[in-house]
Amino acid sequence: MSKPKIAIIVGSTRAARFADAPTQWIAKIAKTHADIDVEIVDLRDWPLPFFDEVASSAWAPSQNEVAQRWQKKIAEFDGFIFTAAEYNHAPTGVLKNAIDYAANEWNKKPAGFVGYGSVGGARAVEQLRLIAVELQMAPVKSAVHIAWGDFLAVRQGEKKLEDIEHLNQAAAALINDVAWWAKVLKAARAADAIAGEAQAA
Ligand SMILES: Cc1cc2nc3c(=O)[nH]c(=O)nc-3n(C[C@H](O)[C@H](O)[C@H](O)COP(=O)(O)O)c2cc1C
Repeated sequence: MSKPKIAIIVGSTRAARFADAPTQWIAKIAKTHADIDVEIVDLRDWPLPFFDEVASSAWAPSQNEVAQRWQKKIAEFDGFIFTAAEYNHAPTGVLKNAIDYAANEWNKKPAGFVGYGSVGGARAVEQLRLIAVELQMAPVKSAVHIAWGDFLAVRQGEKKLEDIEHLNQAAAALINDVAWWAKVLKAARAADAIAGEAQAA
């Protein structure tokens, strides 16, 4: 079986975003993991409108062309790491909208989070865990939380994420969790598909 493919989804799109720093840092570490392939998926490249379909794509095919491509893109992956900015104690609207624009493509795949902000994006990450459960994902325990002191120091150029040891350790644990669940669930989905084909024959 081929290596699981993991997407790092960049969860904010504003021009002045901080998201690029955690994205590049976590991608660099994840790419050193022997068991996974890694790709950055930037929501800036996916100009999805505010959700405007007759139903979730779990129930009715989406009409919007970007949404159709987005669903195909998400289907390519076996696991996800989201960068999670916290806006008013919640995930960004652009990330929630992008999540809503796919459905089955998220199912039975792990979700991990790199949060940042005053409390390391913890409130946004906890909400994203609940959303992930509804999407039949497996949100993993380990997470990165870049809290205020480190966040400000990196934002102001006084420190680099790669030099902050406790964050490097958290990143390694997160990536190990996502890689493990991605491998296990990829095999389980493949077994389900074979069983389904046998039943249909
Ligand atoms: C609309 C808005 C609301 C915010 N609310 C919070 C918040 O509730 N908690 C927090 O820790 N930071 C909050 N912040 C500060 C963000 O953590 C900070 O701007 C961060 O850089 C946002 O991520 P981004 O730059 O990748 O978009 C907020 C920022 C914005 C723009």
